[in-house]
Amino acid sequence: MTRPIPLRPAEPPAAPRHIGIIMDGNGRWANRRGQPRTAGHREGAEAVNRTVTACRERGVEVLTLYAFSAQNWARPETEVAALMQLLYDYVLGERASIMRQGIRLQAIGDVEQLPSFVRGPLRALEAESRHNHDMTLALALSYGSREELVRSARALAERVARGELDPADIDEAALGGGLDTAGWPDPDLIIRTGGERRLSNFLLWQAAYAELYFTPVAWPDFTPHDLDAAFAWFADRQRRFGLTGEQVEADVMERASC
Ligand code: FPP
Repeated sequence: MTRPIPLRPAEPPAAPRHIGIIMDGNGRWANRRGQPRTAGHREGAEAVNRTVTACRERGVEVLTLYAFSAQNWARPETEVAALMQLLYDYVLGERASIMRQGIRLQAIGDVEQLPSFVRGPLRALEAESRHNHDMTLALALSYGSREELVRSARALAERVARGELDPADIDEAALGGGLDTAGWPDPDLIIRTGGERRLSNFLLWQAAYAELYFTPVAWPDFTPHDLDAAFAWFADRQRRFGLTGEQVEADVMERASC
C-alpha cells in the first residue's frame, strides 16, 4: 500500500497561521451590567483593538473576525444601526494604527449590502493597506459561509454554462478558489467566546481541519491572556488530517531524524 500524503506536514503546531474568532457574548455582557446591548458591542470594539495587536505581535498571518453575519441584518434596527456606526468608527478611528502596524485590512462577505457610509471608508482602507505585510485582518461583514459557498458554486456553474469549464474539472481548488478567503491558509484555530459551542455559519468549508476552542469569556472581556490560553491549548493538539495518531508520530520522528 502506498502511504497517503498528508494534507499538510504532520508537525506539532507551533503557532496558528490563521485564526478565526466568533466574537460572541457582547449582548449578555451588557445585560449583566444593566446596559443596552449596544454598550456590549462598543466594549467589544476595544477587545478587537487589543486582540488585533496581540495577534500581530504573536506572528499570526491572518486574523478573521466575525463582526457581522448575513443573518445579523434581522436584528432590531437600532442594534444594526449601532453596529454599522461602530464599524464606521473603527475603520476611521483605527486607520492610522492599522497602517502603523503594517496590517492589511480586507473585508469578506456580501460587502455590497453595507450602507455606503461604511462601505466607502472600508474600501478606501482596503486599498490603502493592500501592500502591508505584517498581518491580514479580515473582517467578515454581512458574511455567511453558506452564502459564500453558493456564490462560488454559482460562478462555476456560469463558467460551465458559457462552455469555459468542464464539470469534470470542478474540484476542491476550483470551489475553494471562488471563496472570499482564496489564497489564504485555512484557519488552524477558531475561537468562540461567550460560552456557546457552534460555528454559526462561519468559515464552514475553510474550517474542515481547524481546531475549535470555546471559552466562556464574553468577548468584551477577552484579553491577550485569554488569547495565550487558546494558543497553549492549540499547541497541545495533535493535528492528524485524517491520519492515525501513530502515523503522525512516525512522521514527526522521521522529520526529526532528517
Ligand atoms: C455577537 O455577540 C457579536 C456581534 C453580532 C457583533 C460583533 C461586533 C463587535 C465586536 C464590535 C464591532 C466590530 C468591529 C470589528 C469594530 P451577541 O450580540 O450575539 O452577544 P449575545 O450572544 O450575548 O447576545
